[in-house]
Amino acid sequence: MGSSMCLLISMRLLFFLSIFHYLNSCSSLSTQPLCNDFESFALLQFKQSFKINVSASSNPFAYPKISSWNSGERNDCCSWEGVLCDRGADYVIGLDLSSSQLYGSFNSSSSLFHLVYLQKLNLADNDFNYSQISPSIRYLSNSAFSGQIPPEIFELSNLVSLDLSLNLLKLQKPGLKSLVENLTSLKHLYLGKVNISSPVPHTLANLSSLKSLGLRGCELYGEFPMEIFKLPNLQLLRVRDNENLTGYLPEFHSSNPLRILCLSNTGFSGKLPDSIGNLKPLILFDISTCYFSGLVPTSLGNLTNLIVLSLSSNKFSGQIPFSLANLTQLSVLVLSTNSFSAQTLSWLAKQTKLTILRLGETNLYGGIPSSLKNLTQLTEFAVARNQLTGQIPPWLGNLTQLTLLELGINKFHGSIPQSICSLANLEDLSLAENNLSGRVDLDLFLKLKNLTELQLSGVHLSFPINSTFNASTPKLKLLVLEACNLTEFPTFLRSQRELVFLSLSNNKIQGQIPNWIFNIGKQTLSLLDLSSNFLTTFESFNHTPPILPWDCLLHLDLSSNKLQGSLPIPPPSIAQYIVSNNKLTGEMSPLFCNLSSIVMLYLSHNNLGGMLPQCLSKLSNLEVLNLQGNNFRGILPEIYVEESRMIAIDVSYNQLEGQVPRSLSNCTMLEILLVGNNRFSDIFPSWLGKLPRLRVLSLQSNGFHSAIGKPESSLDFPKLQIIDVSFNNFIGKLPHEHFQSWTSMKVANLTFDKDNAYMGVVARISSASYRYSNDFSYTLEMTNKGIMTLYEKIQDHLVAIDLSNNKFDGEISEVIGSLKGLHLLNLSNSILTGPIPS
Ligand SMILES: *[C@@H]1O[C@H](CO)[C@@H](O)[C@H](O)[C@H]1NC(C)=O
Ligand SMILES: *[C@@H]1O[C@H](CO)[C@@H](O)[C@H](O)[C@H]1NC(C)=O
Ligand SMILES: *[C@@H]1O[C@H](CO)[C@@H](O)[C@H](O)[C@H]1NC(C)=O
Ligand SMILES: *[C@@H]1O[C@H](CO)[C@@H](O)[C@H](O)[C@H]1NC(C)=O
Ligand SMILES: *[C@@H]1O[C@H](CO)[C@@H](O)[C@H](O)[C@H]1NC(C)=O
Ligand SMILES: *[C@@H]1O[C@H](CO)[C@@H](O)[C@H](O)[C@H]1NC(C)=O
Ligand SMILES: *[C@@H]1O[C@H](CO)[C@@H](O)[C@H](O)[C@H]1NC(C)=O
Ligand SMILES: *[C@@H]1O[C@H](CO)[C@@H](O)[C@H](O)[C@H]1NC(C)=O
Ligand SMILES: *[C@@H]1O[C@H](CO)[C@@H](O)[C@H](O)[C@H]1NC(C)=O
Ligand SMILES: *[C@@H]1O[C@H](CO)[C@@H](O)[C@H](O)[C@H]1NC(C)=O
Ligand SMILES: *[C@@H]1O[C@H](CO)[C@@H](O)[C@H](O)[C@H]1NC(C)=O
Ligand SMILES: *[C@@H]1O[C@H](CO)[C@@H](O)[C@H](O)[C@H]1NC(C)=O
Repeated sequence: MGSSMCLLISMRLLFFLSIFHYLNSCSSLSTQPLCNDFESFALLQFKQSFKINVSASSNPFAYPKISSWNSGERNDCCSWEGVLCDRGADYVIGLDLSSSQLYGSFNSSSSLFHLVYLQKLNLADNDFNYSQISPSIRYLSNSAFSGQIPPEIFELSNLVSLDLSLNLLKLQKPGLKSLVENLTSLKHLYLGKVNISSPVPHTLANLSSLKSLGLRGCELYGEFPMEIFKLPNLQLLRVRDNENLTGYLPEFHSSNPLRILCLSNTGFSGKLPDSIGNLKPLILFDISTCYFSGLVPTSLGNLTNLIVLSLSSNKFSGQIPFSLANLTQLSVLVLSTNSFSAQTLSWLAKQTKLTILRLGETNLYGGIPSSLKNLTQLTEFAVARNQLTGQIPPWLGNLTQLTLLELGINKFHGSIPQSICSLANLEDLSLAENNLSGRVDLDLFLKLKNLTELQLSGVHLSFPINSTFNASTPKLKLLVLEACNLTEFPTFLRSQRELVFLSLSNNKIQGQIPNWIFNIGKQTLSLLDLSSNFLTTFESFNHTPPILPWDCLLHLDLSSNKLQGSLPIPPPSIAQYIVSNNKLTGEMSPLFCNLSSIVMLYLSHNNLGGMLPQCLSKLSNLEVLNLQGNNFRGILPEIYVEESRMIAIDVSYNQLEGQVPRSLSNCTMLEILLVGNNRFSDIFPSWLGKLPRLRVLSLQSNGFHSAIGKPESSLDFPKLQIIDVSFNNFIGKLPHEHFQSWTSMKVANLTFDKDNAYMGVVARISSASYRYSNDFSYTLEMTNKGIMTLYEKIQDHLVAIDLSNNKFDGEISEVIGSLKGLHLLNLSNSILTGPIPS
């Protein structure tokens, strides 16, 4: 098992709400002092049918508008907050009670329906207790209604504004198509989070009055009709969070009025057209997390009204155009995670209004230029995962608004300027994985009260770490101190009750794991990595198997320590458990069978023994089982479960005996099966040939016997690349018919995704705020040129056959020449005769 450095990405989502808020403010309702008794009575009745409840609204600016409604003052309901009356007439035409902390039920007998002249009604962001939606309601976003949108709404053919976003609504039968075909006067259509589950109808492009179209997270699929971008009045187009919606951008004309274009997290692809520079009114352009590629057009620099520009997580290449230097109104600039060519930060200087600047993983080099001093409004500065060099400039400490500073995974050298420790608003700081020298006083960082995320991997910390803890110690959620030269657990950790991710791997922490560690994030911890230290035991458990107490732990890595005694049992929430390379003894407790969420189980290279629990087959989510290098005895239990997800099984170097469990033939996801160096006694498992994904099979050094025979079908082992049956008792002819069916070996150059240079699996977890992923490569021992060689990683395209040290006889067939992809072939030490084929 090799594990690369872990990848920690904080999932801060951009907060666009403030901008929309600003835009919507022009539609706020004006009031007129006229009102008839009948309507004010209806409104007061409405008021009485609800409670004010702070938790009913999620907008932080919510307040109870209706508390100002009062029968005492001349019944003047046109002056009440949120009430709009018709100019010159005496009736109510609009009601805006959005974010008013209303709580209660709502039904069709509601007094609101006595307001017969009502044209606009906005009840967004209240809690109506999942009442069924009433047909008469038109403006209802983020209020708790549920069910299918009633068909009556389709008859309101003069409706100009419909906002049903953030409800638990469905728009399916009839669906979006009927809606847009009937409501032809619509100017504003917001259906965010309404479950539509259909393609976007082409007829939407006929709604020529449409100004706003919000279809965020509607489970749309299919190709987005390009004509919609050309609607003559469309100013706002938001279709983000529809992963299965594909589409392309059209050529844009200079008459196009689009101001807000948000396509992020969809399947949109292709190039950005040069004509994007024609969208002069554009203030927000967000296409992050799509599949766009090619160059970023220079003309983007013409969009001088842009306030938000996000191109992150696409496949853009070439230079970031210098024309972006002209976007002086920008407040948010996010270009991270693209394949840009190497460049410096020098073009950034004039964008002095920037608050969020994220350029992580954009191939930057050079230093942080002093021109960035002028970006004094910055709250987020993220340039991690680049090749930036030079010293970390001390003036960063003057950017006092910073809440996030990510400089990790670069080539900065020199010492860490103390001024960074004076950034009192910092919440997220990463300086990890640079070439920083000198020692750093962790205590200085622990004075930053608002800090929640701290990553200092590779920074040498000075000792002693004085901080114990007091009221002002920050409450960290993420702490990564890998390779920091720690020799003990820092005591301030005792105060950390809210940690979600904690990694102290690759330090020199010795001895016992103290009891108090169980109180660290008991209800919150999802990742704990203490690997590669010198830990020996858990303080509290010297005898029976320790059961670890964290309630929602997903990933636990204790590998490469000196842990002795029984195998600790992780909590039931665990998904990935890695305790390889320790000195654990005893048996594997049947309690392991209760780990119903476990996906990866690595117990390799310990001194564990005894029989494996028969109930292992209960682990229905298991994908990787690695027991290599222990003393497990007896038979390998049947591990098949229905819909098995098993991808890799390595039980090599144990003392297992009997047959290879036949149920493995049902593990259709299986890619690698290593049972070498045991005492299996079985015939060749040709029944594994049906497995459509099997790539590596090693039976090395067991008691496999008899003739290998013919494959059951010429399509057997379609993906096999590596087979090692050496050091067994196979007899008879070489399995020529098998050679013919091993089609994967016949390809001269097996090409796979370039990202995967080695065979392995990726461990992934995500918690509410963080994602983690880590590559786990498979390892394999094979003879190469007569020497037993440990492949710590297996190259993804390696093709190898080892049939050596058996009792095969007869001739070597020409067929073997058709296996063009072969890198290693070992047929030695059998009783083969005849010529060696060319
Ligand atoms: C306030 O609203 C919340 C949900 O929005 C509900 O759970 C709670 O019971 C309400 N409180 C009262 C006093 O009605
Ligand atoms: C569309 O409106 C027409 C009349 O305005 C009505 O007859 C029809 O049923 C409506 N369609 C739907 C799907 O409700
Ligand atoms: C997208 O499509 C895939 C495959 O059809 C499906 O599993 C997934 O649930 C869809 N996602 C959404 C958000 O609809
Ligand atoms: C956009 O800017 C480029 C120079 O960067 C200029 O040549 C071009 O005419 C501009 N286009 C528009 C539409 O303003
Ligand atoms: C910035 O705008 C000016 C004036 O419109 C133009 O002359 C200049 O070429 C632009 N800069 C870049 C880098 O495009
Ligand atoms: C930074 O701002 C100052 C004053 O506003 C100005 O004189 C200086 O030229 C600016 N520096 C850069 C590199 O733009
Ligand atoms: C930080 O700002 C202060 C006051 O504006 C100034 O005196 C100091 O030189 C600045 N520090 C750096 C390192 O630029
Ligand atoms: C820390 O966070 C609190 C609450 O979010 C905020 O009021 C405060 O301004 C922040 N900054 C400092 C230095 O405490
Ligand atoms: C920690 O203690 C050491 C020695 O006792 C001292 O030199 C250092 O300044 C202290 N650090 C802090 C931040 O108090
Ligand atoms: C690591 O810590 C040890 C003792 O705690 C110290 O002797 C050594 O100098 C430290 N190494 C570095 C590079 O700071
Ligand atoms: C494979 O799965 C099928 C269906 O669940 C089951 O009937 C059969 O016994 C399984 N085969 C083996 C060898 O376990
Ligand atoms: C196979 O790939 C290697 C490395 O990519 C290349 O050098 C070699 O020419 C390729 N062989 C064939 C036959 O395409």
